[in-house]
Amino acid sequence: MRIILAGFGTVGQALAKVLTQDTKRIVQSYGFQPQVTTIVDSQGSCRDEKGVDLSLALKTKEKHGTIAKYPGSGRRSNDSARMISESDAEVVVETTPTNFKNGEPGLSNIKTALSTRKHVVTTNKGPLALAMPALIELARHRNRQLRFSGTVGGGTPFLDFAAECMPGERIARIKGILNGTTNYILTRMESSSLTFQKALVEAQKKGYAEKDPTNDVEGFDTAAKIVIMANWILAKSFSLRDIDITGISKITPQKLREVQASGAKVKLIGRIDESSASVGPEEIRADDPTCVPGTLNALTFSTEHAGDITLIGPGAGGERTASAIVRDLVSIRKEYAV
Ligand SMILES: NC(=O)c1ccc[n+]([C@@H]2O[C@H](COP(=O)([O-])OP(=O)(O)OC[C@H]3O[C@@H](n4cnc5c(N)ncnc54)[C@H](OP(=O)(O)O)[C@@H]3O)[C@@H](O)[C@H]2O)c1
Repeated sequence: MRIILAGFGTVGQALAKVLTQDTKRIVQSYGFQPQVTTIVDSQGSCRDEKGVDLSLALKTKEKHGTIAKYPGSGRRSNDSARMISESDAEVVVETTPTNFKNGEPGLSNIKTALSTRKHVVTTNKGPLALAMPALIELARHRNRQLRFSGTVGGGTPFLDFAAECMPGERIARIKGILNGTTNYILTRMESSSLTFQKALVEAQKKGYAEKDPTNDVEGFDTAAKIVIMANWILAKSFSLRDIDITGISKITPQKLREVQASGAKVKLIGRIDESSASVGPEEIRADDPTCVPGTLNALTFSTEHAGDITLIGPGAGGERTASAIVRDLVSIRKEYAV
């Protein structure tokens, strides 16, 4: 399985490490060898049709800050869409930054990959939040797979659970915490009476929040995950503009204390039901299974016959997300002899 890796940051490098460690096990267990033939970052790319040496790629990135310095084939071109279209690799793994304005560069990468009959594994929510129905249609039309396990829940298989473990069951509603950064901030505001700003700075120092935290704290990240689940699990053609979104930046420690006194906690909750979808701070009973602390994520699936089922797990992190990518690669292999 030849792979083009677009994006070589936290997730892309974690994937390279996992593949370096696990390729032998993947070959033995699943009968295929994932081989990265192209890597692209914001400053350049490298290519080796026999397989990029991933340990060398990681060392090069660490030393020079870009894969463009990869010995032999490194170059300053980062035109990922062109490289995808010209390559005969079977799979594109898309890990460029999430962009909710126009989805780029991920949107062009995914469209080009599917149009040139390559399977896609993406951890990038931007293109899905903006154009998921069209991308699913394109994948169907081209008879290729578009997989995105790492976009919701990192390594925790929320999407796979709902799509694959409940055949014959109808999931009517989904609600829960889908963003570890905001959950950490709210937890710290409540437990130590911190202001939103102080808790945010602490989250940034710990590496949980990005330098520009807007997508997390204003609810866009959670909303994108809601869009993905609405389309994938509930077959609703939603995009970001269909979600009613409120963030957590206006919450005060006083409000959290008042709510705590009544046996509840304020959490940033994403929810989808039959006809609507929303993201916003909600008061959740402390004994509700989705009321989890810190960076954890928790989702309750309300099913017609099996009742409410809640899954809890770590929501993000490079290595966990890389594990979701490997799951998707194995699924592609199982479905198609690529
Ligand atoms: N980190 C997580 O835990 C996590 C979990 C789930 C989903 N995700 C999603 O997965 C994606 C990757 O996350 P990340 O944490 O790895 O982000 P990141 O560390 O910022 O890495 C992004 C990578 O994309 C590269 N890039 C930027 N613009 C590019 C362009 N025009 N062409 C080619 N490459 C370009 C960057 O290049 P440089 O290295 O040169 O800057 C970098 O290598 C994001 O969409 C994120 O939302 C992340």
